Amino acid sequence: MSQKSFNLKINYKLPSFNKTIFVDSDKSISIRSFIIGSISNNISLAKNILESEDVFNTIKCLKKLGVKIIKKKSKDYLIYGKGLGSFAIKKNSELNFGNSGTLARLLIGLLSTNPEINLKVKGDHSLNKRSMKNLINLMKKFGAFFLPKNKFFFPLRVISSKMPIGIRYTSGKSAQLKSAVMLAGLNSFGITKIIESESSRNHTENILLKNKDVIKIKNLKKKIITINGKKNLKKMQLNVPGDPSSAAFFTALTLLNNNSSIKIKNVGLNETRIGFYRLLINHGAKIKFKNLRYENNEPRGDILVKSCKIKPIKASKKYYVNSTDEYPILFIIASLLNGISVFKGIEELANKESNRITEMQKVLKQIGVKTLSTNNELKIYGKGKIIVNKKNILVPNLGDHRICMSSFVLAAVTGIKTKVKNFETVYTSSPSFLNIMKQLGVKFETQK
Ligand code: S3P
Repeated sequence: MSQKSFNLKINYKLPSFNKTIFVDSDKSISIRSFIIGSISNNISLAKNILESEDVFNTIKCLKKLGVKIIKKKSKDYLIYGKGLGSFAIKKNSELNFGNSGTLARLLIGLLSTNPEINLKVKGDHSLNKRSMKNLINLMKKFGAFFLPKNKFFFPLRVISSKMPIGIRYTSGKSAQLKSAVMLAGLNSFGITKIIESESSRNHTENILLKNKDVIKIKNLKKKIITINGKKNLKKMQLNVPGDPSSAAFFTALTLLNNNSSIKIKNVGLNETRIGFYRLLINHGAKIKFKNLRYENNEPRGDILVKSCKIKPIKASKKYYVNSTDEYPILFIIASLLNGISVFKGIEELANKESNRITEMQKVLKQIGVKTLSTNNELKIYGKGKIIVNKKNILVPNLGDHRICMSSFVLAAVTGIKTKVKNFETVYTSSPSFLNIMKQLGVKFETQK
């Protein structure tokens, strides 16, 4: 199932367009559906699942842990949950999380408090470079340990706790860490309490909410999540909306392409995910949310976008947590606006699929856009007009899907000759990306 590698070449300026599209399903919710379904009781049904590499790796890992998962029809899956602590490993088995930090952190959360786990885990070349130090320190509090000692990068060996007891944790920017603690708490004795200091994405809570005796959420001055451990989870039935992070690339393309408009249907509009849209609306972007409705405790609707003039972006640190994955494409937008944009509180971008601050600076340098960075801030000196002549963009193999897609958008709206190596990495989150781009009229070449 894994994608063959290919490079992508584009040397084409996209004419104006006016289209309606659907984007790929939400990656965060798809991964969580399988992970939580696998420890629920009875058979769960997850519909409109994202069929991408990160999700396929989730299915593969869960199958190795003894979970039965059956594809009913395109995008619809049955998950035969066997309850809390039911993962079983074969001798010498190992798990490969591929490119997915979400899969790695959430599943290690469950493994840490599942009886008798002793297994090797690893990722691809990008994931193996991402620090797991914060996760390891949290799981140690539940009594799990990791070998070799004092190593914080995959490959690692996970050894589960013999006597997991709930912990108290103040969560920060990372939804993956918050989710890992919640999931570890499910099979621990007593109470796990999480106090949110930042309102990171809340899909794990939303899926668990059906189990009133397991999870309680109080929205006081801060949000407090209480997990009551060792209680069975009811089977789930859910329908995944389109991914607002995938829709962000088509939104940017439309905003930056003269006389263009787009309607993106059935997209998840959870407030913890749409900081990108809110930020751009505050800077003059013509973006509207229509046809709003709720399903599975999550809002969804259509996004309408029209090309227009946008002011240089001033993104204070409060935007970070709700637009975490959208910074590469925000940097592209900023580079094409007239004036200086400033992005604050972005230090965590250095530990994503690549160092998204330095790697995006390298992309922008190639089109003559000046940037200035400190460890937690980036200034982009936008050039309203880029002189395309004699410019080339080359993006090396970074194993970072969002940088590949951002560079593609830059190329399509400017017409700058661009080559992106190992474009197959886009299939980790957005297998329909190139087909949708074709639908909108972009011309490109792929090379094996
Ligand atoms: C995710 C959380 C974010 C995000 C990632 C998906 C999730 O990571 O960047 O793509 O599904 O919980 P952090 O929680 O590490 O910020």
